[in-house]
Parts: sequence; structure tokens; C-alpha cells
Amino acid sequence: SDHFTFDPGFTSTASCESKITYIDGDAGILLHRGYPIDQLAEKSSFLEVCHLLLNGELPSADEFAKFEHNITYHTMLHAQFDSFFQGFRRDAHPMAIMTGAVGALSAFYADSLNVDDPKQREISAHRLIAKMPTIAARAFQYSVGRPFVSPRNELSYSENFLRMCFSVPAEDWVPNPVLTRAMDRIFILHADHEQNASTSTVRLAGSSGAHPFACIAAGIACLWGPSHGGANQEALEMLEEIGTVENIPAYVQGVKDKKYKLMGFGHRVYKNFDPRAKVMQKTCHEVLGQLGINDPLLEVAMELEKIALSDPYFIERKLYPNIDFYSGITLRAMGFPTNMFTVLFALARTVGWISQWKEMFEDPSRKIGRPRQLYTGATQRDYKPLDQRG
Ligand code: CMC
Repeated sequence: SDHFTFDPGFTSTASCESKITYIDGDAGILLHRGYPIDQLAEKSSFLEVCHLLLNGELPSADEFAKFEHNITYHTMLHAQFDSFFQGFRRDAHPMAIMTGAVGALSAFYADSLNVDDPKQREISAHRLIAKMPTIAARAFQYSVGRPFVSPRNELSYSENFLRMCFSVPAEDWVPNPVLTRAMDRIFILHADHEQNASTSTVRLAGSSGAHPFACIAAGIACLWGPSHGGANQEALEMLEEIGTVENIPAYVQGVKDKKYKLMGFGHRVYKNFDPRAKVMQKTCHEVLGQLGINDPLLEVAMELEKIALSDPYFIERKLYPNIDFYSGITLRAMGFPTNMFTVLFALARTVGWISQWKEMFEDPSRKIGRPRQLYTGATQRDYKPLDQRG
């Protein structure tokens, strides 16, 4: 029929109603359940934000204690799960391992496959939030040939994650509070972003009634693309390629000649600035300052930002730095290799994905997602046997 709305890239289609995240792209506003992102990033903790996204409210002290208990209860992986990692090549990208490992959770937690039971939906949400740091740290440890470190439940979410990543081989490793705070803030900044490509993927996968481990694995696969979560790795590789401030003008000319894009710039929704990028830039300066790191790439990034913000090409197209522009330099200073950047995004976004999945599942008007198309292929014609084809 010709009654369909043709909207490739879904630039003007609202695919659902949601109470979780509000974005005003023209004003540069991002709210989670009504709370501004900068307040959450400055004052809250990631686990508190997880409770907020998943349950709709910031927790009371009692609720928080219970929530923290529920999450830490699920941080361990089944012993057999560890042998699953051994099947991957050492040089596998950790995102490839993540996609496989998260999908495989369904083979270990069959009870969570009963999506119609609200208790099981809650347990699978807790399992995913709890196990992602353990899986992500194992993907990292495996790729660098180090033994796995078990989770420690007396530590905070971010402290525990950093310990699983960095306490081997430095046996005397103690969590640096600056790094722990930065990690937690980076997780908060990535926690949810309404109907972006990976979240829409999770909702579409879940609309068929698929179980949450499959849906989140689909989200991780989508996130890996360079236009989406893969941009943080690409942005840092771009800064490395530019190398020094003198090389910027020639690089910017290449962008204008449309040879490549300026990674870490532009956003489908933000046409003013990305409020997450502001917090990220501040965090980047704090981390480098407090660690006493003098990274020449920060100078390149700052100069590139200055040029891009004053050049008519970028102004006309409303291209501002997005969250990925400064996250890479920060993560590098913290000791993460570039191929782990998108994994950290996936870890943090898991709470957003599962909150959106849960909201979709519990919506009584839920329908299977089934877009239509405008057919542009051949009109009807008759089959010809092989010997009669020209
Ligand atoms: N560098 C140079 N030019 C750009 C860029 C960029 N990063 N982004 C968009 N443009 C240009 C584009 O070429 C087009 O120009 P023209 O009108 O002359 O054809 C114009 O700006 C409009 O671009 P668009 O492709 O219609 O914009 P979009 O809304 O479809 O794309 C985007 C949004 C994020 C995919 C894109 O800006 C991009 O590829 N950016 C780089 C990758 C990146 O940093 N992604 C992370 C996004 S934030 C984290 C996340 O949520 O995943």
C-alpha cells in the first residue's frame, strides 16, 4: 500500500512511549527520570542511577542497601562460563567476546528465560547489571593473557571493576579514588540515551518476546558500529593519527572534502551541544591533572575542538563534540587499551537497555515491531528454466 510513512533512518518516527529519558537536542538537555545528567554525574553513584533508571526513583537508604545486595549477589560467573572465554582467539576484539559471552548467559540461567514472570524479569536485570563488569574484565584479561580476578563484593561497583581489570600483575594494586570516581562518572554518562540505534535494537528484538540475554547481546552487536559506540575507539585513533597540532588544518580539510568524518563530533539529536560531553571534558582534565599525565593528544583534542567550533563548515552543520570525543583520552590515561573503550560503553549502557526492555515488556499495548518498506524491485515476472535464460 502507499499509505506508509517513508522515514529511512527514523529521523521523524517515535517508536514508543517512554518515561525513562528525556532529551531536548536543541537546548542540549538530558534528563533521566527528570533528573539532569550533570547533577547525576556530579552527585550520584552509578548504582544509584541504575536503580533510578530501572525502578523510576532514586532509592531510599534502605532500598539502596537492598539493591546493592541484589546486584553484588550476582557478580560471580558460573565456573564453566570461564572456560567459555578460552574458546576465543587471544587477539579477538573484546567486543566480539562480549557479544558471544552475553548471548551465552541464556545457556547458564535458564530460569531467566521465563520472561512472563515479573520476578524473573527483575532477576535477569540484576544479573545483567552485576555480571557485565565481570564479563568485561575477563574479556580484557583474556586478551592480554592475564589470569582472571574474582569479583569482590565489599567494594563499590566501579572499584570492583577496576580491581578486576588492573590488580594483576600489580599485586599491591589499590583503587585510586580519582580513577574510581572517574570510572563511575563515565558509567553514569553512558547509562541511557533513549531510542538510539542499540536501544531500538534491544526493543525490537524484545518485541518478539525474546529473552533479555538475547536482546542485550543484539544491543551490544549494534553498539559496536563506528557511528555509534565504536566511535570512542575511532575518535582516539583519529587523534593518534593526527598526532600533532600542526597536522590539524590538513586533517580538517580532508573532513571538508568528505574523505572522512571527524570522529567524536556530531549527533543525530543534539544540534546544540552534548551535555554529556561537557561533563566528560571536565572529567578528562581532572583525571589527567590528578594523575600528572601530560598527554599530547589532549592538546590536539583541545585545538581540534577550538577549530571545529569556529569553522563555518562545522557551525552550519551544527557539529559539536559528543561524549566520545573526550572519553577516549580519559580511558587511555586510566590504563585501558583502545579496544576496550566500546566494551566500557556496553557495560554502562546495559542498565539503559534492560530498563527499556522491561518498560517495553510491561507496556500493555506492546506489539511486535514490524516496519514496512517501499518496494523498489522488479515487477511480477514468470520463471524461466535454466536453458532458456539469456
Ligand atoms: N564529521 C564531519 N561531518 C559530519 C559529521 C562528522 N562527525 N557528522 C555529520 N557530518 C556532516 C555530514 O557529512 C552531513 O553533511 P552534508 O549536509 O554536507 O551532507 C551533515 O553533517 C549532516 O550529517 P548526517 O549524516 O545527516 O547526520 P546524522 O544525524 O545522520 O549522523 C552521526 C549522526 C552521529 C552518525 C554522525 O554525526 C557521525 O557519524 N559522527 C561521527 C561518529 C560519532 O562520533 N558517533 C558517536 C555519536 S555519540 C555516542 C553514541 O550515542 O553512540
